Amino acid sequence: MAKKIKDTHNGVNLITLIDQSSTITEQYRTIRTNIQFAMVDQKLKSIVITSSGPSEGKSTTSANLAVVFATSGLKVLLVDADLRKPTVHKTFGLTNGRGLSSLLSNRGLDINEVCQTTVTENLKVLTSGPKPPNPAELLGSQRMTDLIAAVENQFDLVIFDMPPVVAVTDAQVMAVKTDGTILAVRQKVTNKSALANAKKLLDIVNANVLGVVFNGVERGTNGAYYEYEYK
Ligand SMILES: Nc1ncnc2c1ncn2[C@@H]1O[C@H](COP(=O)(O)OP(=O)(O)OP(=O)(O)O)[C@@H](O)[C@H]1O
Ligand SMILES: [Mg+2]
Repeated sequence: MAKKIKDTHNGVNLITLIDQSSTITEQYRTIRTNIQFAMVDQKLKSIVITSSGPSEGKSTTSANLAVVFATSGLKVLLVDADLRKPTVHKTFGLTNGRGLSSLLSNRGLDINEVCQTTVTENLKVLTSGPKPPNPAELLGSQRMTDLIAAVENQFDLVIFDMPPVVAVTDAQVMAVKTDGTILAVRQKVTNKSALANAKKLLDIVNANVLGVVFNGVERGTNGAYYEYEYK
């Protein structure tokens, strides 16, 4: 009998959906506004969210930004491009039998059939799909470039949740193909030299690093706060 592998990657807190009047949701709206300003004078239809290392809030930032952009009226697609540790399907309570990896490996599939709707109007999700053996190669493929062009056509904004940039090359590969990159930084988790290394790796591929989303726990409160620092 095959041994069942315990899946430890859980979904993240969708505070922007649960509590629209919370301070944290307001902070996400502020980040949205900052990105919208950048959208005025540059093409910014596809954004990659990465970080230097694991558990720094990439998936939390991607999911909540996707929600606040969708509630502002933009047609948004959130793509789980973390083909190694996917969590977006869990966050949104979706199935993951088919997703990005399926679209990349099976030309017969239609994007619209694979993207799933969410309770948030204007927000669709493309889950990771089954784990492939070669994530970096799939993301680096011409098929991926074509897919980005196709979804950019259909949506106002496409957000890609990625693995950490220092550990694997996936985020670098995607930063080249997309319009902007945001780094998630988390208090007490992010290592300063690793963050500098992450920025260096993104600069090497000429990524358009838009800024840093800081998410950490504020002392003396029971909440977290998020800041957006524009470059
Ligand atoms: N500001 C925060 N305060 C408290 N917990 C947080 C905060 N940000 C993230 N977390 C928690 O830390 C864990 C990791 O967050 P998340 O999944 O967003 O990070 P990630 O960078 O996507 O991780 P991975 O590298 O595994 O993909 C989750 O359980 C999440 O709920
Ligand atoms: Mg993640």
